[in-house]
Amino acid sequence: MLGATGSIGVQTLDVIARHPDRLQVVGLAARSNGPKLHEQGAAHPGARLALFDESAATRYGLAGGMGALVDLVTSADVDLVVVSVAGVIGLAPTLAAIRAGKDIALASKEVLVAAGEVVMPLVREFGVNLTPIDSEHSAIFQCLRGYRPDQVSELILTASGGPFRGRTRESLRDVTVAQALAHPTWRMGGKITVDSATLMNKALETIEARWLFDVPIDRVRAVVHPQSIVHSMVRLADGSVLAQMGWPDMRLPIQIALLHPERVGGDWPVWNPTDSPTLTFEPIDEETFPALSLGRRAVAAGGTMPCAFNAANEEAANGFLAGRCGFLAIAEVVGGTMDLHRPMAPTLDNLLETDAWARHEARSRFVM
Ligand SMILES: NC(=O)c1ccc[n+]([C@@H]2O[C@H](COP(=O)([O-])OP(=O)(O)OC[C@H]3O[C@@H](n4cnc5c(N)ncnc54)[C@H](OP(=O)(O)O)[C@@H]3O)[C@@H](O)[C@H]2O)c1
Repeated sequence: MLGATGSIGVQTLDVIARHPDRLQVVGLAARSNGPKLHEQGAAHPGARLALFDESAATRYGLAGGMGALVDLVTSADVDLVVVSVAGVIGLAPTLAAIRAGKDIALASKEVLVAAGEVVMPLVREFGVNLTPIDSEHSAIFQCLRGYRPDQVSELILTASGGPFRGRTRESLRDVTVAQALAHPTWRMGGKITVDSATLMNKALETIEARWLFDVPIDRVRAVVHPQSIVHSMVRLADGSVLAQMGWPDMRLPIQIALLHPERVGGDWPVWNPTDSPTLTFEPIDEETFPALSLGRRAVAAGGTMPCAFNAANEEAANGFLAGRCGFLAIAEVVGGTMDLHRPMAPTLDNLLETDAWARHEARSRFVM
């Protein structure tokens, strides 16, 4: 597991603990949280531990750096790698794991946003399974079972709308980090919660869906569904719409990604239609939240542009969390960075170069 100490990582360990007959943890990695990683390791004797941050790794007596993460995921005893780090930093170990023939359970949507054009052909070449953990993509994955691509006309992602649903652009000028982190329906890590408030999360997910399910971006759309009960929908060629529903709880999509095609019970609350007599849907206010149009623009430009889009957003969202960038400036920083980017062919070298360039460019544009 990459990102063991985070929100998805902890919930994944919870799911794994329920299936000792099927799942065994052989390696855990994080960025710098050595104490928590040691604590998690103690519950899984024999599991190897690694930290990305080399000075933290030295401090806590662990293997460190990107090389240690790559060694971990390519070990002979690994069957499946859970990628749940925050951001595109998961790309290099994901590529290494695919080349080593490991199946992937992917939470880190940034990996596919930045490099879907590189990752998906490798998934096919090495014959590995890449299953989504993101609840929306898990919903679509479940709804698509048994249908051929030509039978599918549209993927419809649902968005809670975040904490600022219904607000005007002007009223968002001075929102605080605490307000942005107060997500109405999901408890998640900081960066994805900011992405949910800006709706960048939905833009990232639209691009993730385009690559995961090999559907053109103009057949992936999003609607606001404030109750977060319908996790996403698929429209088939005959007009029929299939939905997957349940309480918002990541342990279900995590378990599906780990045990697919098995379906077994868990101890999460089970949803009944009478629990939520009213389910509502509304269009996304793209004037207040320009994220989706930026995402579509990135895909239309192609090549390394989605990588620049993602890197600028990672920097701006983390800059907002650190108090160095205003909330409305996030989309402006992303758009401004994209304006200057000349897309190149999406080779790994060009993606890494674009990622570094876009982060630098984005940081120079921070405004409060
Ligand atoms: N949380 C959710 O409900 C949810 C739902 C769908 C998708 N996702 C996606 O899942 C991913 C993780 O989200 P999260 O909410 O779990 O984030 P989080 O709580 O912030 O946790 C991030 C994890 O990644 C680790 N990490 C960060 N940088 C790293 C690096 N350079 N090398 C190795 N490990 C690194 C962190 O380690 P340290 O603790 O040492 O910093 C931590 O374990 C994101 O891509 C997010 O979009 C999350």
